[in-house]
Amino acid sequence: MKRIKQQCFRVIMLVIVTLFGWGVVPAMADEFTQEDLNRWESEYMSVVKQGRKVFTDGKLGTNGVACAQCHPNASNTHPETYPKFQKQLGKVVAIWEMINWCIRNPLEGKNLAADDPRMVALQAYILHERRGVKLQPGKH
Ligand code: HEC
Repeated sequence: MKRIKQQCFRVIMLVIVTLFGWGVVPAMADEFTQEDLNRWESEYMSVVKQGRKVFTDGKLGTNGVACAQCHPNASNTHPETYPKFQKQLGKVVAIWEMINWCIRNPLEGKNLAADDPRMVALQAYILHERRGVKLQPGKH
């Protein structure tokens, strides 16, 4: 009886190890439907669109100045170089901290929290405009 149990255990373990080896088990967790992909794309693009609005409408600060006046189509924002040292802040920062610098200074506004939906949308818009540019973190 004990031997039969042991043999059953061996067979089960062999099956599990083989399935993992073939990638069958983890692959099952990674299958996405076309519906999933469509949803992610449309959610992402709707945030990019909100970001374009925040970037261009001049309502983020107090003086009516818009990001797009100095950075048309997100030019000179260089998201692909972050995190990097920024002399205005005196340390290595993520891009949202530099966005807040521009909100406080040229726009005379108040910092946005890192997880503020407008901050996420601004980054989505900037990165979407710069898609395909080679990553060069740390480059000035
Ligand atoms: C009056 C012009 C002006 C406006 C308006 C402005 N910026 Fe800037 N922005 C600058 C200047 C000047 C710098 C500093 C350039 C540097 O030292 O890298 C800068 C830097 C940046 C950087 C970092 C660029 C880099 O090369 O690392 C980002 C990102 C950025 N701005 C985003 C924004 C966003 C988002 C807004 C709107 C909330 C905005 N800026 C509004 C002038 C402006």
